[in-house]
Amino acid sequence: MKFFVDTAEIADIRDLAATGLLDGVTTNPSLIAKSGRNILDVIAEICAIVPGPVSAEVAATEYAAMLKEAAVLKAIAPNVTIKVPLTPDGLKACYALSQEGTMVNVTLCFSSAQALLAAKAGASFISPFVGRLDDIGQNGMDLIADIVQIYNNYPAIRTEVLVASIRNPIHLIEAAKIGADVATIPPSVIRQLYNHPLTSSGLAAFLADWAKTGQTIG
Ligand code: E4P
Repeated sequence: MKFFVDTAEIADIRDLAATGLLDGVTTNPSLIAKSGRNILDVIAEICAIVPGPVSAEVAATEYAAMLKEAAVLKAIAPNVTIKVPLTPDGLKACYALSQEGTMVNVTLCFSSAQALLAAKAGASFISPFVGRLDDIGQNGMDLIADIVQIYNNYPAIRTEVLVASIRNPIHLIEAAKIGADVATIPPSVIRQLYNHPLTSSGLAAFLADWAKTGQTIG
């Protein structure tokens, strides 16, 4: 499973990139707003740190304007992936961009019918939002299972299922059990993945016993 980080914070991206865990980055207009920085500067900086796909989202909602913005974003670096919303105009832009060889991430997916449309439009990634579905009392992970099953029925579909709106490690593990291709994970959740109380207590016991030996290594 590929790990993307869902943030526009450079310090977090730099830290995580150094661990070797990062396969890509996703941003959205809210994350760019939170960073307080210019989108072109942030995306350029992220692309210089992470060689994998870096999603940059268009803000336009109309087809021609989306393509104009996509051209500006694409020019930043070859690993920019254009993120478009799952709307008729977004999917039309997805089709045009994918036809010319640009990677496209179709975002704001909340149904398997939408995921099927995105695949037919040539999306490189479909982003179903599990956390936001859970928030309204639906089971976000059921949607991931449905999309993976549907895509697996058609080997010609190359679209990768990118699980988005991940809120906790359980979301990630459930998505991995289903066989989703990618998870985009907030930095706070990536850090939680390391933790287990038995790891901490086990390490403390080892260090205490080691201190009693008075030895050093090397
Ligand atoms: C990623 O591409 C999505 O924009 C993001 O995961 C949404 O997460 P949220 O529902 O926590 O805002």
